Amino acid sequence: MTDALVLNASPAAADIRKIVADLGYPSHWHWCWENYKPTIIELSRNRGLRRHLEIGAGRDPLFQPDEAAELGLDITLNDISAHELALAPSGYGKMECDITSPRAPDILGRGKYDLAYCRMVMEHVPDVPAMWRNIAEVLAPGGVALSFFPTLYALPYTLNRLMPERMSRFILETLFPERKPDGDDPKFPAYYDHCFSSEGKIAPMLHQAGFSDAVVLPFWGYAYFSKIPGVKQIYAAFNRVAERRDWRAVSSFAYVIATK
Ligand SMILES: C[S@@+](CC[C@H](N)C(=O)[O-])C[C@H]1O[C@@H](n2cnc3c(N)ncnc32)[C@H](O)[C@@H]1O
Repeated sequence: MTDALVLNASPAAADIRKIVADLGYPSHWHWCWENYKPTIIELSRNRGLRRHLEIGAGRDPLFQPDEAAELGLDITLNDISAHELALAPSGYGKMECDITSPRAPDILGRGKYDLAYCRMVMEHVPDVPAMWRNIAEVLAPGGVALSFFPTLYALPYTLNRLMPERMSRFILETLFPERKPDGDDPKFPAYYDHCFSSEGKIAPMLHQAGFSDAVVLPFWGYAYFSKIPGVKQIYAAFNRVAERRDWRAVSSFAYVIATK
């Protein structure tokens, strides 16, 4: 298992680390997809964090309304796109705004949430420090924020960032038809600002935004080459080595869990 990074090892950060360890954190990419929601549930339970904000929730929020009710969560969904929010189920508060806008804290409510999180959103935000500053503003004291995002310099994301949007869109939509604009999982333009799993690149930005502690969990591997025989096996072997040696520069995904 790769050691998760703990900044300022305060009791709060140690708690977060324990929660993730108890969930069985390994640094393989399957785990990060399957365990984001359980991590949020466990954090909510462990700390009594009831008022949730999902940023960039889109059409597919993490929790269905009946799950939220069962867990006793009061969830607000945010997205920059009214269209995406309209496709999300009803039964939540819905707030349309750009999370980086200077107006976002007033629109969403200062100090109004205990837990704010996003999944596959950070890479689409051109000004990630502004996003984290606004998240800090909308969290209550002691609030927690999570982000789950793809990281550079994993090959598929590096190519996506370097290629013109039209070219990367064509390739992705050819390999995965569900990523077309009218599909179930459309592609959004990606910038990968601050999309790294290394402490040095993330921690200063979080501290400046107003967070006191953070845990960064790296993950290696992805499904992008699963349909290309040969390449699939080569990249799987490379990712296994990278994972064993904790090569953060080539991780594929990360969780950041930050405490205000
Ligand atoms: C790849 S989708 C992920 C949707 C959802 N979180 C999920 O995991 O299925 C990215 C979402 O982020 C939203 N988004 C992009 N930039 C945003 C911003 N600046 N503020 C709020 N939402 C944003 C997009 O509209 C889109 O719904």
